[in-house]
Amino acid sequence: MSVDALDDFDRIWDRHGTGSLKWDGAKARFGAEVLPMWVADMDLPTAPVVLEALRRRLQHPILGYPWLDHEYRMAACQWMAQRHGWGPEVGHTQVASGVVPALFAAVRALTAPGDTVLTLTPVYPPFLQAVRSNGRALRTLTLEYDAEGVYRIPWEQLDDALAGTRLLLLCSPHNPVGRVWTSEELSRLVARCRGHGVRVVSDEIHADLSELPHTPLPALMPEAVLLSAPGKAFNMAGLGGAVIACGDAEGYRLLREELERSQCQHATTPGLVGGIAAWRDGAQWLDRVRAYLRGNALALAQRIARDMPALAFRPPEFGYLAWLDLRRCGQDDQRIDAALREVGLGLNAGADFGPGGTGFRRLNFGCPRPLLEAGLDRLQRALALLSPPA
Ligand SMILES: Cc1ncc(COP(=O)(O)O)c(C=O)c1O
Repeated sequence: MSVDALDDFDRIWDRHGTGSLKWDGAKARFGAEVLPMWVADMDLPTAPVVLEALRRRLQHPILGYPWLDHEYRMAACQWMAQRHGWGPEVGHTQVASGVVPALFAAVRALTAPGDTVLTLTPVYPPFLQAVRSNGRALRTLTLEYDAEGVYRIPWEQLDDALAGTRLLLLCSPHNPVGRVWTSEELSRLVARCRGHGVRVVSDEIHADLSELPHTPLPALMPEAVLLSAPGKAFNMAGLGGAVIACGDAEGYRLLREELERSQCQHATTPGLVGGIAAWRDGAQWLDRVRAYLRGNALALAQRIARDMPALAFRPPEFGYLAWLDLRRCGQDDQRIDAALREVGLGLNAGADFGPGGTGFRRLNFGCPRPLLEAGLDRLQRALALLSPPA
């Protein structure tokens, strides 16, 4: 496979038969053959530096237990410092098998059964599951959504939501609503959380795809817990691996004990090898892929403005997840699902993201542009079914 082929982001790769959740698992999920634009991985080749590092490693025929944690954590810290102007100290980090297992472990480590855990919705569904399935009380606060389609923290309701809360699970940047929280917003949030004695876990897995300056939460709140991984930005989610950082000694100890208790303090050899390569050598590729995604976001926005006036959409401030507001179609979720099934388009249902999600769909535009155009043709047909011409 030539480097040129890997760098040609317009090229469509057939992912069927690769054991891909997004493609091979789509029929089981949607009950029909669909063009899958749902789960958050990209239909673009994984960063060549990652593929090359894996290939090099596979030249040795023995795949035993890895001894790479320290190198992985070092690479993560240096990457964050270079990319975002703040990185954790290596001694404050730990390896985890993934961001979601780390999120679940953090809930168990930092709260007791029955404690209240708050999150801002709509949000990545495992935030809701991490609280519920660990026997904690879930409290949600729905983000404000203004006329321009910008989501904001509802400051006036925040104090009530924080009162009696033990832990806040923050998604920063926020999937699915497309916001990169500004340092002003985060500072204000930190002040409020401190005022109520609420600890914060910040999932920053999308930060490297940010189009605006991203502020790592611990830069403002050293006692916060940061979760990150190369899986989204470098398109290597199938390999697993994550880092968890906490600058507060007691928090760090509680996290370490819980990661060990639940045995999710390990990552796989491919995850570690790939992650080290991504963080050390992946910056240029990431900038190229981000430019391509910006082009996709623009193409999406132009097409919606031109052909789909019933749809409200604001390009996300990071990454490749578009949050589409279909509520002006005046149809319920079942009718929307039926129309999407009929045209063969697989999107994430907004309702799965908790309060505030009904009537929305999440579309993954991390794909070659011709595939995006095909998806948008289907979306336009679905909208025509939902609002037939008068
Ligand atoms: C906010 C967020 N956190 C975590 C993950 C997944 O993390 P991992 O694959 O490391 O468990 C995703 C995947 O879409 C995500 O959007």
